[in-house]
Amino acid sequence: MPEKKIKVAIVFNEPHPELYIKPNQLEEKKLGFVPYFEVENITPIEEYEIMAQKLKKNGVNAYTLNIKDDILSLLKDIKKNKPDIVFNFVEIYKEDSRNEMNIVGLLELLRMPFTGAPPMALANCQSKIFTKRLLNAIGIKTPRFKILKKLPKSFRHSLKYPLIVKPAYEDASVGIENESIVENVEKLKERTDYIIKYFTQPALVEEFIEGRELNVAVLGDLEPAALPISEIDFSEMPDHLHNIVSYQAKWDPHHEAYHKTIPICPAKLPKRIEKKAKETALKAFKAMGCRDYARVDMRLSKDNQLYVLEVNPNPDLTEGAGFMRSSETSGLSYVETLKKIIYLSRERAERQGIKLVA
Ligand SMILES: Nc1ncnc2c1ncn2[C@@H]1O[C@H](COP(=O)(O)OP(=O)(O)O)[C@@H](O)[C@H]1O
Ligand SMILES: [Mg+2]
Repeated sequence: MPEKKIKVAIVFNEPHPELYIKPNQLEEKKLGFVPYFEVENITPIEEYEIMAQKLKKNGVNAYTLNIKDDILSLLKDIKKNKPDIVFNFVEIYKEDSRNEMNIVGLLELLRMPFTGAPPMALANCQSKIFTKRLLNAIGIKTPRFKILKKLPKSFRHSLKYPLIVKPAYEDASVGIENESIVENVEKLKERTDYIIKYFTQPALVEEFIEGRELNVAVLGDLEPAALPISEIDFSEMPDHLHNIVSYQAKWDPHHEAYHKTIPICPAKLPKRIEKKAKETALKAFKAMGCRDYARVDMRLSKDNQLYVLEVNPNPDLTEGAGFMRSSETSGLSYVETLKKIIYLSRERAERQGIKLVA
């Protein structure tokens, strides 16, 4: 008898698909610079559909479920369709990204196997401040910093300019723009005030690390391994823009920064630094309690010191995204990587004595 296919629910939360506007095509004349990338014309929902189709063609009984801000729809689906594994893509619930950890908390209570990080790791990594304190405690360098919950009367600190001012609990370059880098106390005050008021959360002020930017992807559960390192090449960045992956660089195809922050994988690095970056990423992955897949963002300073900026559990797995680039460079195709993540959670469920149908 042929083996029964594993059933996987690809679960995500896109409560307002009707609001998604596809970006206009690029017109070089209007842009005033030569675009490097084409405009992506696939919505996130289409992206998940494609993922399900590709998995189906490759022996996985996959289907998609958009929970649309309704947790009961997830419970009903699990009861009705009885998936073996939930492939978890829920990052936000009712507009609050702190709920990310609660969704998987619920899956744990249900003893429903799911891919990726457990609630604790999602909680740990959400706070850049907590991450820095924990990593510093185990000897991993992060940029020197100060936390400002409100605008202080006097801005005395021992940090060295230039500084970067970030929202403490955001992700995906939210709140990170060219103006985030400040060279003097006036600008520091202005930006801190803006972050505290606009994002209603503390401002994390860090020393700005000039140098190279490295992303180290990690794949695995009991024996995680670092994949080939990816670097963001800033060499084409114009002088009026700082060498950072700003919000515009990540999300706005009509912005110059988007086309001048070019990923290169594998990064060309001296062997010693490559080894150190991978060791650091693995140590950070384990300390933060990550699982299955994660990406550790780092800067390599001009004097060859590695500083971890943050740890991203469950990073973007769409085709062409940073994690997949590293995985493909390591020799695993897109579908093979997805299947590997599915099998990691199946093996974990088996170790925990959870009976799967497949
Ligand atoms: N201390 C720093 N020194 C240099 N660049 C930084 C620093 N902090 C952030 N950046 C830049 O801002 C980007 C986003 O910051 P990061 O801390 O990774 O937040 P996010 O969660 O939004 O990705 C980084 O990829 C990097 O380019
Ligand atoms: Mg980052």
